[in-house]
Amino acid sequence: MKDVNLQADMLQAMRRLAKSVTIISTSNGAERFAMAATAVDSLSTEPPSLLICINQSASSHAALATGAGFCVNILGLEQQALAHLCSGAIKGEARFSSGNWLTSEDGIPYLGDAQSAILCRQDGHFSYGTHTVFIGRIVRIHTSPRITPLVYLDGRYTTTALPAPAQACAG
Ligand SMILES: Cc1cc2nc3c(=O)[nH]c(=O)nc-3n(C[C@H](O)[C@H](O)[C@H](O)COP(=O)(O)O)c2cc1C
Repeated sequence: MKDVNLQADMLQAMRRLAKSVTIISTSNGAERFAMAATAVDSLSTEPPSLLICINQSASSHAALATGAGFCVNILGLEQQALAHLCSGAIKGEARFSSGNWLTSEDGIPYLGDAQSAILCRQDGHFSYGTHTVFIGRIVRIHTSPRITPLVYLDGRYTTTALPAPAQACAG
């Protein structure tokens, strides 16, 4: 039986958990998929691996469930519109209409201008409730020198980017 109060309390608690916003991108060979996700975390460095939690109703779920590789694209604060595009009514290929999308050797789409694009082959998955946890074995990483992440906190976008260091005064 559903505990509605506990669900509401959980949602309130999670509003206090700041998460960097990512786009998970994948392909089934014929179609590309991209969706905003914050349920992403590192798993281990031995081997280098991470995990993502994807709702079974998401359009990319079927491709992932057949074992497709994927990319975790960590967004910068200037990419909020892209996060919005990849979590709304516009679906499928139209989500790739903006952003510097490239394709990996394995045929996985990744964002060339992400803070970091972490390409993974899939190394297992299991279902829990409404979601599936997919384990990604990292195969390649493209990282930008900037650390200005787009962050989701209290139901809205923000950032935790540090201010640029003050310039030393000459003379
Ligand atoms: C900031 C943010 C974080 C999200 N995190 C997740 C997530 O971790 N897992 C998930 O399944 N959906 C997450 N979503 C919801 C999906 O992005 C959204 O349902 C998306 O539209 C699903 O893809 P589809 O439209 O192709 O089915 C998030 C949405 C937003 C705006």
